[in-house]
Amino acid sequence: MSDEARMDRRTLLRGLAGVGLGLGVGAGAGAGATVALRPGAADAAGTTAAGTGSGAPLSGARVEPLGAHQAGVTRPATPQQHCLLAVLDVDDADLAGAADAADAAVADLCDALGQAVGELLADAAGVLPDGPGDLTVTVGLGPRLVRAVDPTLPGAEDLPAFAGDTGIPAGATGGDVMLQLCGSDPGNLEPALEHVLATVPGLLPRWRQRGYRGPGEGFVVRSPLGFHDGIAVPRTEEEQAENVWIADGPLAGASVCVVRRLRLDTAAFRSEPAARQEEIVGRRRDGSPLSGGTIDDDVRLQAKAPDGEYLVPPRSHARAAHPSFTGSRLMLRRGYAFDNGTATDSGGEPVADTGLLFICFQADLRTFVATQHRLDEGDDLMRYVTPTASGTFLVLPGDRDGGGLGAPLRAGA
Ligand code: HEM
Repeated sequence: MSDEARMDRRTLLRGLAGVGLGLGVGAGAGAGATVALRPGAADAAGTTAAGTGSGAPLSGARVEPLGAHQAGVTRPATPQQHCLLAVLDVDDADLAGAADAADAAVADLCDALGQAVGELLADAAGVLPDGPGDLTVTVGLGPRLVRAVDPTLPGAEDLPAFAGDTGIPAGATGGDVMLQLCGSDPGNLEPALEHVLATVPGLLPRWRQRGYRGPGEGFVVRSPLGFHDGIAVPRTEEEQAENVWIADGPLAGASVCVVRRLRLDTAAFRSEPAARQEEIVGRRRDGSPLSGGTIDDDVRLQAKAPDGEYLVPPRSHARAAHPSFTGSRLMLRRGYAFDNGTATDSGGEPVADTGLLFICFQADLRTFVATQHRLDEGDDLMRYVTPTASGTFLVLPGDRDGGGLGAPLRAGA
């Protein structure tokens, strides 16, 4: 974005400050302006064939953006192979200046984002020459904006600092808005993001990351360490209702997302013998637990070898992350590998900046926090991990009744 364009957005922001935060109330983006939010009739699976109008090949079946939940969390059931995750800020002065109308202003921002996404997917703006394909744009709200609405809401709490987080630059921690764009066509992601940013005034770039996944069915994919990842996750609608979605209150259907960019020392991990790699993970490379069974089985934490040793080692990742130790629920892990070339480590040495853009969704932030604390205490996998970005975002419910994405945030909703 040029300085001039940024100025334009900020001028607009300031000019609108008198009617709230000044956010997201650009042309056609007011509350209830949801006409473009439903780009096509969906079949029972929430997808429609995407007409490109150009005869170009389809890049994935269209994903209905709304419903009880936003797309991009559990839909499509097999995550698209490409991701662009952008974390954005809202100007401090605007937030402070609108304290008494903050809930309406934040809700307006969410409406505007939902509207911009709807336009994009309807391809009203003609931004994507071959159509959106299976593009999804998931909108999340950072804790500061959630607190501005109501500090008691889920999502109002910041993520605490975990072991190793001291090295994360301030500019890659927290943030006010998350846009998670996923699609089969990697060329769609950047223009889609730019369209949303050009349509909704007042959002300033904080950090962003591109990610990719190998081919696969469902949530399971090989992680950058070469092991199947995404096995023990809530898969059925019942499991997702219990673990992923907030069940009650105005935010029913929302979810709390945690994003962690985790640089991985893959060279050091791969230099370990295969058996040691499996001990570190707690599963074999074919996905089966070290306690026996197939990839579809859970790890059996109590199973022991004849010599009395646990089959799933005490410091293995699968044991340390297991919800039975934290009393928490399951999280839906839906991460992407990343490769940013080389970077410099804390000692000034060049390192490969590759790893896992860890993205998870849960009904309660505590699920992630309690799990990460356990990993910090007793997980050998964490020796290969350096966090380089971190944040949590409330993924608002989908717009079910046309009231706008921000409707659940309006007072009395
Ligand atoms: C780069 C870092 C990481 C890698 C490469 C990684 C990889 C894996 C792998 C291969 C598995 C076993 C297969 C599966 O059940 O999906 C697994 C399980 C799991 N991971 Fe991670 N993971 C990482 C970080 C994390 C983090 C930061 C958390 C949360 C704080 C986490 C939470 C879990 C959970 C909850 C399980 C399932 C345990 C169970 O119930 O069996 N992982 N991970």
